[in-house]
Amino acid sequence: MIRQFQWTDYDAVVSVWAATGRDVVPRAELEAKLLRDPELFLVDEADGAVTGVVLGTYDGRRGWILRLAVHPDQRRQKIATRLVEELERRLALLGCPRINLMVLPDNAAGLSFWQRLGYLPVPDVLCTKPLRP
Ligand SMILES: CC(C)(COP(=O)(O)OP(=O)(O)OC[C@H]1O[C@@H](n2cnc3c(N)ncnc32)[C@H](O)[C@@H]1OP(=O)(O)O)[C@@H](O)C(=O)NCCC(=O)NCCS
Repeated sequence: MIRQFQWTDYDAVVSVWAATGRDVVPRAELEAKLLRDPELFLVDEADGAVTGVVLGTYDGRRGWILRLAVHPDQRRQKIATRLVEELERRLALLGCPRINLMVLPDNAAGLSFWQRLGYLPVPDVLCTKPLRP
């Protein structure tokens, strides 16, 4: 069952991210994100356990998909597909016209997954800068 994240899921979500080698989003960052669009942070739950997670954001112009992960024991059952389809549906309801995401260059499986759902690579290079408080 796919549903919106709630704080009681946090430890289970951290376990899924950790099991897939994904960076864990700290609580403080999630608190700030959930003030804006809590309905875009989704989990899949089966038999009381979190099996997958996806963190969506919408900045008013583009949707972004971040930190998609499915527990290694639960893969190839279309859990990620369903999470992304539900996130797309929710972003479309917000009027979002396009979704972006990033895949690490060595993540061939991840890229295969995204291409199958219609997400195609573009040549842009990500640039980033931290802001000091
Ligand atoms: C990528 C990931 C989210 C896929 O989750 P999943 O629930 O197993 O994916 P689905 O079952 O919805 O797969 C849908 C389709 O994507 C493709 N796909 C999924 N995993 C794949 C893999 N390891 N290799 C090649 N293609 C893959 C297949 O076409 C698959 O359909 P099929 O099983 O009928 O062949 C999961 O492997 C994962 O958590 N990986 C680690 C984190 C990661 O890479 N995140 C995404 C990149 S940002």
